[in-house]
Formats: sequence, structure tokens, C-alpha cells
Amino acid sequence: MSMEGVCMLKIVRARDYKDMSRKAANIISAQVILKPDCVLGLATGSTPIGTYQQLAEWNKKGDCDFSQVSTYNLDEYRGLSHDDPQSYHYFMKVNFFDHVNIDIANTHVPDGANPDADAACAEYDRIVAEAGYPDLQLLGIGNNGHIGFNEPDDHCFSKGTHCVDLTESTIQANSRLFDRIEDVPRQAYTMGVQTIMHARTILVVANGPAKAQAVHDMCFGPVTPSCPASILQLHPNVTVVADEEALALCEL
Ligand code: PGA
Repeated sequence: MSMEGVCMLKIVRARDYKDMSRKAANIISAQVILKPDCVLGLATGSTPIGTYQQLAEWNKKGDCDFSQVSTYNLDEYRGLSHDDPQSYHYFMKVNFFDHVNIDIANTHVPDGANPDADAACAEYDRIVAEAGYPDLQLLGIGNNGHIGFNEPDDHCFSKGTHCVDLTESTIQANSRLFDRIEDVPRQAYTMGVQTIMHARTILVVANGPAKAQAVHDMCFGPVTPSCPASILQLHPNVTVVADEEALALCEL
């Protein structure tokens, strides 16, 4: 447990979204250079899009080779087919996989199209473990402190991949990407905190004022399931790359 005012995570201050994206891409690129056949844990959401664009640019220039990399995404909405434009399968294809020389057979996203939640989640935990867990796990953070779709909940620290009911605040936050709020799926399959904590290094990206409280609580608050990201204080190798606005409540 960290004391208030002492941060166990390494914080990298970025000027703005572009700077955050470049810094995060540099860290991922270094991982791929150091271990060309590394396992990357990947995230969806608005925050990492700039990071993926930067990596795609470097890949095109021949500076970052994904040909031997394998990837495991954090989460997927339950009930969406892989080619549904709102699915995270689709998001990863259009925002990253289609733009780099990764072998699509080496990319993995939980199977939201499988209605059998227990089977889908157990299978995902099995393949992530078989891959030896991510060398580097990229994470965004929700306004409510969630990581993946691990929402604030008394038991959120103790789970592997599982089916979650999304909180009202997450449904609201994600509704911007849907035509109507009723279209936002109410459930998702997500890697659990247990799975995430197995990654050897973790990279959290955050930008904008809506993330300031969650970033503060992740770094300086008590370790509590009411802020799932606060568990990262107990991981030995976490880097947070955040812009000025997201760091506004952190006294650094
Ligand atoms: P965002 O989502 O990047 O779209 O803000 C982050 C998250 O919910 O993990």
C-alpha cells in the first residue's frame, strides 16, 4: 500500500495528446526492438489511437517490425460479431492491425461472439497463460479508474478473464461512439486484474481533464477496488505516460 504523496509508479509527463502518443509508441517500439517475438497486451479506446498511428508510421518506415509479435487484447463487448464496426475486433483491425506487418493469426481478442461466457473467458485465460503473459501490457484508464473493463467492485482484484456488467458511467462514456445509448452493450468479457498483473511491464496512457481524478487515485490514492487501477501500485514495473491535463491533480 502506498502512502499518500508517494507514488510507486513511474510517471512520464507529456505536453499534450501527440506528445503522449509518441512517448508511449517509443516505449512499445523499444520493447519490440529488444524482443522481436514479444507478447504485447493491447487496449482499445480513444487514448491509444495516436500511439497506434505512430507505431504504424514507424512500421512503414521499417523502424518497428511486428512480423514476429503476438498480441492479446484486454476486452470485447459481449454479443458483438467480430466484424461489427462497434466491436473491439474491428477497432483493432482498422486502427492498428491493418496498418502494420503483424500476422493476423498472432492477434487475439476475447471472443464476444461466443454466448457461453464461462467458456469464452476460460479459453482466453488459457491462451494468454500459454503465451507466457504479455511482456508489455498497454492500458487506458476509465474516468472511474477502471482498467480493461474491470469496473470498481469489491471483488475486482481477484479475477481472471470474466464477464462484467458495465457500470452506468462506462456506458455513458462509451455511448459517444454509438448512434444511441441503447446500442451500447451492457456486458463485456475482460481480462481480469489477476491476468493484467501477470504482465512483466505495464504502460498506462491517459490524457485530458476527465482522467485527472482517476490518474491521481491510481498513483497516489489508497489501493482499493473502488479504483481498480490503484492495484498497479503493487506491480513492480509500471510507467504512466500522461498529458498535463490528466496530471493536473498530481503534485509532481
Ligand atoms: P478512452 O477509454 O481511451 O476511450 O478514454 C479508456 C478506458 O476506458 O480504458
